[in-house]
Amino acid sequence: MPTLLRRALDAAFGHPRGVAGRVGGSIMAFGNRDQERAAIGLAALSSGEVVLIVGHGPGVGMALAAVSVSPGGHVIGVDPSPLMRAMAAERCVRWIRSGDLEVRPGSAENTNCANESIDVAISVNNVMLWDRPAGFTELHRVLRPGGRLVVTVHRHVLDCEPTRLCEQAAAAGFLDIRLNTRDRRAISPAIELVARRIQ
Ligand SMILES: C[S@@+](CC[C@H](N)C(=O)[O-])C[C@H]1O[C@@H](n2cnc3c(N)ncnc32)[C@H](O)[C@@H]1O
Repeated sequence: MPTLLRRALDAAFGHPRGVAGRVGGSIMAFGNRDQERAAIGLAALSSGEVVLIVGHGPGVGMALAAVSVSPGGHVIGVDPSPLMRAMAAERCVRWIRSGDLEVRPGSAENTNCANESIDVAISVNNVMLWDRPAGFTELHRVLRPGGRLVVTVHRHVLDCEPTRLCEQAAAAGFLDIRLNTRDRRAISPAIELVARRIQ
């Protein structure tokens, strides 16, 4: 891919910033809504649970999670992009005001969450941007024993064989790892990984 196009895509979607990032955020909010909804479904959230949304982008998944864990639950979103944090905060303002949701600087590799403090960690369309061994290890650290991990990603942006994700999750200590491919019209399938921290 030509360098200029790669930079433009990174500014819009990978590390959203500036005007391209705002346009990219709006495209993601519309275009990835179904995938965010599917990830929330896979997570099987219940009221009262604490959810960590990694790389939330414009915040669609966070808003869906906030509804799913209400009443009594809490949603923490971490994203390294100040622009995405601002867009997510705009979208989720009512839950921020009620104290049920917070948006923080962070990444998969460094969530700034305490050990064993999270019931469910969810990542949609950003696992290809992680240092994956570090990211899976960090999510294993913050999940409580019994906690669930859901990672979904467009097949066309994933830079490895999907089974590699399972190997990397297992190397970080995850168990009960399941991999699924969800077919979609007009776009590549979604790769879905669900796993559990047991101990
Ligand atoms: C393609 S967007 C996906 C956003 C949203 N989840 C969606 O599917 O529409 C990728 C997001 O991951 C964030 N990101 C970049 N590097 C990351 C990392 N190492 N860990 C977590 N998120 C990261 C970006 O800032 C961006 O918001």
